[in-house]
Amino acid sequence: MAERPLSEANLVMSVVMQPSQANYVGNIHGGEIMKLMDSAAYAVARKHSHTNVVTARVDEIQFHLPIFVGELITCTAQIIFTGRTSMEVAVTVNVEDLDSDEPPKKALTAHFTMVALDKKGIPTPVPLLSVQTEEEKELFELGKRRYEYYKSKKDEVS
Ligand SMILES: CC(C)(COP(=O)(O)OP(=O)(O)OC[C@H]1O[C@@H](n2cnc3c(N)ncnc32)[C@H](O)[C@@H]1OP(=O)(O)O)[C@@H](O)C(=O)NCCC(=O)NCCS
Repeated sequence: MAERPLSEANLVMSVVMQPSQANYVGNIHGGEIMKLMDSAAYAVARKHSHTNVVTARVDEIQFHLPIFVGELITCTAQIIFTGRTSMEVAVTVNVEDLDSDEPPKKALTAHFTMVALDKKGIPTPVPLLSVQTEEEKELFELGKRRYEYYKSKKDEVS
């Protein structure tokens, strides 16, 4: 399977938060943002693998800041590690108050593991991620450690 550079393995989605996504005082429900993060992880994994993908795991989801109706959120999804059929996607959500000059702030972060499936629904190989810079190599290594940890846990359970 050919290598695909990390620079092509990313995607950015922006959306303004609506009242239907909030509670009665205007805080956006966490599940609304998690759905958007999952959609971004799905899209970037599809883009990288050129096949159907499913979410197998979500790790280390953190809500750093509240998000309110009318704010702009920007969701960045970046593949940071590839296994044989799985991809780890780092997803970051930044929030921006459109009525102020303040720069966007980091509101949520998480790691999604997406698995590529063939037409029969069987896990299928994905292109390797070609990492070049020190930062990309470091992220890949951290992703690999998490991947190996999940594998060891799965072996314990089964
Ligand atoms: C994800 C799924 C296809 C994996 O099936 P499986 O029989 O475990 O497949 P395999 O053992 O061959 O594993 C395939 C890959 O998935 C990874 N994987 C499977 N379960 C995992 C888990 N819980 N966490 C992290 N990675 C996992 C494996 O490490 C492997 O990666 P690799 O090929 O890069 O080494 C299957 O568990 C599934 O269909 N889950 C439901 C997914 C879904 O519907 N998501 C949406 C929820 S609404």
